[in-house]
Amino acid sequence: MFFLLLLFLCSLLAIFILKNKNSDYWKKRNVVQVSGLLSKFYFGNVSLPEVYKKVYDDYPGEPYVGIFLGMRPALLIRDVENVQAVMAGEFQSFYKRGITLNPQDVLADNVLFIDEFGRWKILRHKLSPIFTSSKLKNMFYILERCGRDFVERIKQDPKNVDNPFEALYSYTTASIAASVFGIDAQVKNTMDSPLLDMVKKAIAPTLKSNLIFAIANISPRLLQVFNLKSFGDYEEFFVGVVRKVIENRRNEKQRRHDFIDICLELQDQGMMKDFTTGYELEPSVEVLAAQAFFFFVAGADTSANTMHFTLLELSNNPNILKKVHNEIDEVFDKCDEKLTYSDVYEKFPYLDKVVKEALRKFPPIGMIQRKCTKDTILPVGGVRVDKDCTIVLPVYAIHRDENYYPNPDVFDPDRFSPENEAEIPNYAYLPFGEGNRICLGMRLARLQVKVGLAWLLRRYTLVPQSVVPEHFEPSVFALRASKYRYDLVPRSTN
Ligand code: HEM
Repeated sequence: MFFLLLLFLCSLLAIFILKNKNSDYWKKRNVVQVSGLLSKFYFGNVSLPEVYKKVYDDYPGEPYVGIFLGMRPALLIRDVENVQAVMAGEFQSFYKRGITLNPQDVLADNVLFIDEFGRWKILRHKLSPIFTSSKLKNMFYILERCGRDFVERIKQDPKNVDNPFEALYSYTTASIAASVFGIDAQVKNTMDSPLLDMVKKAIAPTLKSNLIFAIANISPRLLQVFNLKSFGDYEEFFVGVVRKVIENRRNEKQRRHDFIDICLELQDQGMMKDFTTGYELEPSVEVLAAQAFFFFVAGADTSANTMHFTLLELSNNPNILKKVHNEIDEVFDKCDEKLTYSDVYEKFPYLDKVVKEALRKFPPIGMIQRKCTKDTILPVGGVRVDKDCTIVLPVYAIHRDENYYPNPDVFDPDRFSPENEAEIPNYAYLPFGEGNRICLGMRLARLQVKVGLAWLLRRYTLVPQSVVPEHFEPSVFALRASKYRYDLVPRSTN
């Protein structure tokens, strides 16, 4: 850790020395320029999306604001037409995320982080079928069992009620573990998965992980030179687990509809080929394990935060909670306490609006990043974005912009009634991103979140309160407020 801190401080010194080189980069291009944002983040005990929101709010009417990430110029986009250009229209110029981790970091070689076009495209193409409606329908029995086990565990161990965020995190991690590895017949409760502790440690934001991300942003080569790995501590164990499960399952006749089924299919088909790019990739255990690992990284914290913010707002809004309870009770009464895929998909329209509004007000990923791969002119404002410039898409700030969402701090699920939703401009609602790199697990996430909330609110209600997070935990991308809490009380009907 000391070595990492030293490296980080050296990088900051290098920035300081080289900063003058780019000091008027944006001014020369007639773009409003703001400096010193990263220091506000590192020394301000806030999340980076909050820092970006302040810049966004300070320059109304500007299509973008020029900023710096360390010594590198970056552009914070304000206008949604420019957001559209970056995420979709000019995808060929902005397909990279620009988070360059150490290539030796086996678990970081996954569809979320990969920036090499051919490699990303083939993996995205091969993994997308896991999340189609028919695959999710087949997999639904796993999700339902996890929701049921979740409330059973809370009932058995009331300690969970004292730390609701922790309980939600265990639920989303367990539910992803079951979707990836299936459910072992011996396991009494899916929340007992032996992977939970490892995954929680691996994905919890820590000083070390924040520093490695910062170094990756400032000078990715340093990670390579010093062989610094973000997920190195878990590599051997996780790859080993995936290898063992694949080997054990190879002889099973019955399909389980989980991720391991897909791994077996991919390995049976042999070398993966993309005919447009000519890219070839072997579905080795390491490559598949990296994808599986990233379902946890991308999905556990985000889904837990979505549930957490939803419950927090329901505790602040008893009238909305009552409507949610009525809807849930009606469905449970009719399905004899066993949810089906179509119950969750079709019969919770109000819960759906509530979750969408929670994702609007508190997007778990508060900032999305892209990197320019070739000089490109943006449609509104007309600035030329040079190759290698980083683009910041300030999701949290856009979601709180009163031009798109009147009274943006008010929690109002009716913003997402069909007629109101149609009025929201394209690219002004981005909880899952947009365009070709839109969240791969979006449909699974929505199901998981709704199953968990439906089961929890069937059995529990919330004590009314008035608690709204104004600041978030320090994180580069995420909006987290895990210390905030609400009181869960068993419902008298159960
Ligand atoms: C509520 C929960 C979730 C939220 C809010 C969320 C949000 C996001 C966002 C904002 C992105 C970036 C999109 C972009 O750059 O345009 C993303 C990417 C991604 N997400 Fe999610 N996510 C969630 C759950 C999940 C789950 C459960 C999984 C997998 C099981 C998952 C897998 C991924 C992957 C693999 C990517 C990278 C896609 C690519 O780069 O091509 N996510 N997610």
